[in-house]
Amino acid sequence: MQFDLVNPTRIVFGSGKIARLDDLVPASARVLLFYGGGSIKRNGVYDQVTQALGTRIVAEFGGIEVNPHYETILEACDVVRRNDIGLILSVGGGSVADAAKFLASAAMITGADPWDELMAGRYPEKILPVGVVLTLPATGSESNAVSVISHQGRRIKYPFANEAARPRFAILDPDTLVSLDRRQRANGAVDAVTHVLEQYLTVPANTPVQYGYSESLLEVLFEWGPKFVQDNSAEARENVMWAANQALNGLIGAGVRQDWSTHYIGHAITALYDIDHARSLTLIMGSVQRFRLAAKTAMLARYGRRVWKIEEADDTIAAGLAIKRTEAFFREMGCPTRLSEVEGVAFSADDIVAHLERAGQTRLGENEDIGPAEVRKILELAA
Ligand code: NZQ
Ligand code: ZN
Repeated sequence: MQFDLVNPTRIVFGSGKIARLDDLVPASARVLLFYGGGSIKRNGVYDQVTQALGTRIVAEFGGIEVNPHYETILEACDVVRRNDIGLILSVGGGSVADAAKFLASAAMITGADPWDELMAGRYPEKILPVGVVLTLPATGSESNAVSVISHQGRRIKYPFANEAARPRFAILDPDTLVSLDRRQRANGAVDAVTHVLEQYLTVPANTPVQYGYSESLLEVLFEWGPKFVQDNSAEARENVMWAANQALNGLIGAGVRQDWSTHYIGHAITALYDIDHARSLTLIMGSVQRFRLAAKTAMLARYGRRVWKIEEADDTIAAGLAIKRTEAFFREMGCPTRLSEVEGVAFSADDIVAHLERAGQTRLGENEDIGPAEVRKILELAA
């Protein structure tokens, strides 16, 4: 086992914790209050944030879209420079946090196209610090280094990773989740499940801590995800919010081989057909697993037995049952598992493969053996 785990994000978790911004944000900081389409103004989070920031100098930038657009972040770069911003405060879900982390680097780049620079891995030496007030549990973006950004002009959705952009702090107040609608609650819990599975369902390794914790997170998400959707109780909000954070903060993935092929194919599907991130994953994940059954049998069987309590001695049969149970969970959460279930969309394997090629994602999976031809087969299985 080998890894280099850096996670400097300070997590402040619990009801009423937005007030803690007063001690987390330096009194002299010039803050950019950064948010999405306005949910924070309707549910009282905006008021709590501005109250906690008190007399600090605050500029605002709202209007970050779901699946945030590069073009909008470029507008925010101007606001950062004009106001000499010293800290970006993301208030919202994963889209706003992703955009904030990308902005932290992009605003530092002048005289070149930030997208091209960052896609080439040329990150500025110094970038702005980011803090997060999270209002949707799903992505783990509040604790990780990744920004998934959509370039509208080039029709590509791409994950950028910059360690320096990992948020300095994140406030996770489960009360902020009261206003989430049913669809967003389902999407959030399902997305977190896929994050665990893509780090866990690869090949056996001597990483019992990571695998055991992955199983605990899955058990929590399978128990509390449906309750979060159905009654949105205080307990469900707490458990899903914490589990979703832990699912993608780097811990369970440390030192383990990972398979993000479902996410990469899903990003292409969202970019091309405007399908919610979580649903783009449930459409594909079972088919990736069926297609890679031979390579993943050992971990799928372990998962089936430990998490779903499947009593089946034969590994291949146990693995197949585990895939079915996962897909049944996605359907229970109201998410589609076959492309044909999505009405009014004509999926094109050519377009999806072309997106993956534009993004340089042509060697997917833990063995880097899922290329364009294999993606086509996965899409056939998902039909
Ligand atoms: O924009 P506003 O008005 O805030 O409304 C949002 C948005 O419409 C709304 N919402 C958020 N909190 C709310 C609320 N509505 C009522 N009450 C609240 N408390 O929910 C909608 C969806 O928000 P969004 O931020 O887009 O959702 P999510 O957190 O699921 O983020 C999805 C984005 O994250 C990326 C996805 O690709 C997608 O672009 N991902 C980022 C990852 C990362 N950084 O590691 C990994 C993920 O796999 C994922 O790819
Ligand atoms: Zn995801």
